[in-house]
Amino acid sequence: MSEGKILSGFLAPHPPHMVYAENPPQNEPRSEGGWEQLRWAYDHARANIEKLKPDVLLVHTPHWITQVGHHFLGVPRLEGRSVDPIFPNLFRYDFGMDVDVELAEACCAEANKLGIVSKMMRNPKFRVDYGTITTLHMVRPQWDIPVVGISANNTPYYLSTGEGQGEMDILGRATREAIRKTGRRAVLLASNTLSHWHFHEEPELPEDMSKEHPERYDGYKWDMRMIELMRKGRMKEVFETMPQFIDEAFAEVKSGAFTWMHAAMGYPELAGKLHGYGTVIGTGNAVIEWNLEEAGLSSLGAEARVA
Ligand SMILES: [Fe+2]
Repeated sequence: MSEGKILSGFLAPHPPHMVYAENPPQNEPRSEGGWEQLRWAYDHARANIEKLKPDVLLVHTPHWITQVGHHFLGVPRLEGRSVDPIFPNLFRYDFGMDVDVELAEACCAEANKLGIVSKMMRNPKFRVDYGTITTLHMVRPQWDIPVVGISANNTPYYLSTGEGQGEMDILGRATREAIRKTGRRAVLLASNTLSHWHFHEEPELPEDMSKEHPERYDGYKWDMRMIELMRKGRMKEVFETMPQFIDEAFAEVKSGAFTWMHAAMGYPELAGKLHGYGTVIGTGNAVIEWNLEEAGLSSLGAEARVA
């Protein structure tokens, strides 16, 4: 078996509004559209994933919260209806996904080996959260690539941002090792919004884009500052600045997916490709890709950091 590769990693946020706006057959509510710039950003992600032909998509979501440890979807086929508890008017989605249980088990075993509590989720009737589903739908609406779903232990909220991000770093390194050993060609998805200040009232027509704008100017400025660093590949600075960004912009990256993904990729000082930015009920969302395959950094035996 050849060694595994991480082909690419995406910051791939999950406001369910994007699924609602697309009117896929799986989602019950109908819309007139909306949030086009973000949805068009996801078109680029879809095209690149099509080109990369991964064996598996791994996603870390903040909206599957587990109190004890980091959990992995561990049932070969999961189906059901997922409803967003905050926006049930927008997201009532009939999902069906194949899970790469072998890789999930390998990730879980590696994480336990590195000393963080991890567990397989074996409930065949488990209702997958809207964060996992929205991110996966937006990058691959055909649902024909197996997935690995990872929960948020929410350590950063129970303990501190620093301790939480430290655990996500370990989880990322465990994920990298599991991909390497199982020989998978993997794409990673960090399901996170940037600034997370949001409206407290929804417009009468949710997709009325004349009402959409950043909730706070300071949140918007933070997003632009962080995106600019990412576009320039100044990732060390991104991680140095992140605790302040999290505190001042109420950023959802606090929940750890972004750190998990970059740890798995070996923290490459690589320019992220911004596919697009847009607000959703005032929160800042960017679709950004670090294409390791294109940069010659996908091989996990190789030194990941570039000059
Ligand atoms: Fe969220």
